[in-house]
Amino acid sequence: MDRDGIGSAVGKKLLRVLEGKYEAAPPVWLMRQAGRYLPEYRAIREKAGGFLNLCFNPTFAAEVTLQPIRRFGFDAAILFSDILVVALALGRKVEFLVGEGPKLEPLSDADALSAMRKKADQNVLAPVYETVRQVKASLDDRTALIGFCGAPWTIATYMVAGHATPDQAPARLFAHRDPENFSRLIDCLVDASIEYLAKQLQAGADCVQIFDTWAGVLGPEQFDRWCIAPTQKIVEGVRRQVPRAKIIGFPRGAGAMALPYAEMTGVSAIGIDWTFERVIARDALQSRVPVQGNVDPLALLAGGVALDREVDDVLRHLADGPLIFNLGHGILPETPIAHVERMLKRVRR
Ligand code: CP3
Repeated sequence: MDRDGIGSAVGKKLLRVLEGKYEAAPPVWLMRQAGRYLPEYRAIREKAGGFLNLCFNPTFAAEVTLQPIRRFGFDAAILFSDILVVALALGRKVEFLVGEGPKLEPLSDADALSAMRKKADQNVLAPVYETVRQVKASLDDRTALIGFCGAPWTIATYMVAGHATPDQAPARLFAHRDPENFSRLIDCLVDASIEYLAKQLQAGADCVQIFDTWAGVLGPEQFDRWCIAPTQKIVEGVRRQVPRAKIIGFPRGAGAMALPYAEMTGVSAIGIDWTFERVIARDALQSRVPVQGNVDPLALLAGGVALDREVDDVLRHLADGPLIFNLGHGILPETPIAHVERMLKRVRR
């Protein structure tokens, strides 16, 4: 690692692509590559006794971060944690109930917001930085380490509703009814995210990804205000502390708004989901920034010819420019390991 917290790009394929270079065989990693589809993950999760205990135990979290690297030799490891630890650090109650996903104490109005702490408690997040240090010490010099955070909009959707919803109506309604107060929440998440990402980079992450899983439910005007503007502030804020920081943005479901996102936010690369039209991705996005994606996670689950066709289609459209081969969203828990092996063989041949 350099003194400014940026891993050297020389040996790491992922970092070379993030500098805009072309690689004949693209680097590969998968969103949610550490997770329930792996028996070794399920064993450690059991031992840790719950998902949050796993996230905050650096020995266990480092171990599950490394599991998919040992098994598949991906070009990058992604820190094992969750985007909602930032809500915890802001003093909100967060639980993960088995089979139900996250449950938070809903932040339903301006009063609840006023009562919330405004600065993330770094004592809560300290184990995450320790996980980064431990993983970094165990990785070889070809495998990049990716840190991450949730985008303010996506974290806010869970904080407001208290749980996942199909279209994040509670946060959208809050933002329409009371944009002033909603922007206080977003600003507070912007500040927390800048500090969180800068500290991950300083602890040894080679690059970071901003997950905006719920960007796609925003109308164009809201997308500018709640997705693009906060992301731009985070990118600027992180680079003030870590000047050459490499940042991947993933505005899932952005559709046509991916173009202004790539143009305005300053991200080093853009992740696209599986619905993104690949000719447009090549001509309108990849001409500007490296592209990451975008195999349909259900094609990977299905396997066989459906998977081969999907992999070939991604490569045919996007592998002649800077590409980070990935899924268009996280790997599903039911995915057979043999399908991941089949996909990797096809990408690497
Ligand atoms: O391997 C990796 O990608 C790193 C770890 C990682 C997790 N969550 C672990 C996790 C990352 C990068 C995330 C990000 C995350 N968390 C996002 C953005 C990306 C996305 O997938 O959309 C979001 C929206 C969350 C919030 C969250 N965490 C939800 C909605 C859920 C429940 C859904 C589910 O898959 O169970 C989680 C739980 C979670 N985060 C699990 C894992 C491995 C499953 C927990 C378990 O082991 O039971």
